[in-house]
Amino acid sequence: MATVQIRKLNKYYGKMQALFDVDLDVADGDFVVFVGPSGCGKSTLLRALAGLEGIDSGTVKIGGKDVSNAEPADRGLSMVFQSYALYPHMTVRQNMEFGMKVNGVAPAERTERIDEAARILQLTDYLDRKPSQLSGGQRQRVAIGRSIVKNPSVFLFDEPLSNLDAKLRVQMRVELEALHKQLAATMIYVTHDQVEAMTMADRIVVLNGGRIEQVGTPMEIYHTPDSKFVAEFMGSPAMNVFRHSGMRDMALRPEATYIGCRPEHMVIHPKGGGNVDAVVSNKEQLGGENLLYLKLADGLTLVARVDGDDQTAVNAEVGVELPPNRLHQFDQTGRALR
Ligand SMILES: Nc1ncnc2c1ncn2[C@@H]1O[C@H](COP(=O)(O)OP(=O)(O)O)[C@@H](O)[C@H]1O
Ligand SMILES: [Mg+2]
Repeated sequence: MATVQIRKLNKYYGKMQALFDVDLDVADGDFVVFVGPSGCGKSTLLRALAGLEGIDSGTVKIGGKDVSNAEPADRGLSMVFQSYALYPHMTVRQNMEFGMKVNGVAPAERTERIDEAARILQLTDYLDRKPSQLSGGQRQRVAIGRSIVKNPSVFLFDEPLSNLDAKLRVQMRVELEALHKQLAATMIYVTHDQVEAMTMADRIVVLNGGRIEQVGTPMEIYHTPDSKFVAEFMGSPAMNVFRHSGMRDMALRPEATYIGCRPEHMVIHPKGGGNVDAVVSNKEQLGGENLLYLKLADGLTLVARVDGDDQTAVNAEVGVELPPNRLHQFDQTGRALR
């Protein structure tokens, strides 16, 4: 197990800068998730950490040791990818054993590590099967098993669940969380899926255009986003963020250009109540909750999430409250004002 420390890391692909002055500390045993839209640099940062990509400047330390120029094999990391490519002609046991053989681990030690990994991943009964005789989830577990038997100081995952169907993803998510607890290992996990980030992470790192926007616990990121970008990226449906105009009874900071409120925090009143009037332009009933689309006089539409029993009808005229303690304010550049 180990800490990870990244300082002033910059990375270019030709003339295109992919990472800008990235600083990050990962504590020993933490489960850290890199999240952000496609192309924001998540994989590049993970690969730079692993030594699979060279860096242009900055330092990477793992377990306190500077590995900025070390070969991938000398960094004590192991990585699980989205496309995990098991050897089809080898059994599960042979797939897990292969890397250890190459690295000269003694046969008895290999067997011991495989049996332990198989036990943790519930693959014991499948060790003699070929990948084609396994389900998608079992194959992904074998790929994780290959990682475990290397005894890495840090586990790296790059969107490992993206190829699985929705139900299996949820199941594997729970299994990975359990695995993290059991191994007490430092894990860094890349995903574009904010639900995975919220549910799995001890700490979330939000990336945007090659820069770290914010680092925090899932609740910090959700409730106190540092920027309009983070506010709008995390949460579904997204936070309502808009240039304010025509609001009443609202104490705003003078620098506030944008205001924001999460759909579940908006309160619906009779017309004339709250901070602004609206017409319910659409209603989506999801069973446990309803989404109300609220059209304001200036044409803007906000989304409110209300209880599934809520009886507000389409075309109803309502007043919408953005409660002060649930209101987010951002300056012209999108920085949060607190
Ligand atoms: N090998 C490469 N050569 C050139 N550009 C690349 C390469 N890999 C990634 N990029 C670019 O770097 C940026 C970050 O990519 P990446 O780290 O893969 O994003 P993410 O994993 O967040 O989707 C993107 O603009 C991408 O097009
Ligand atoms: Mg990627």
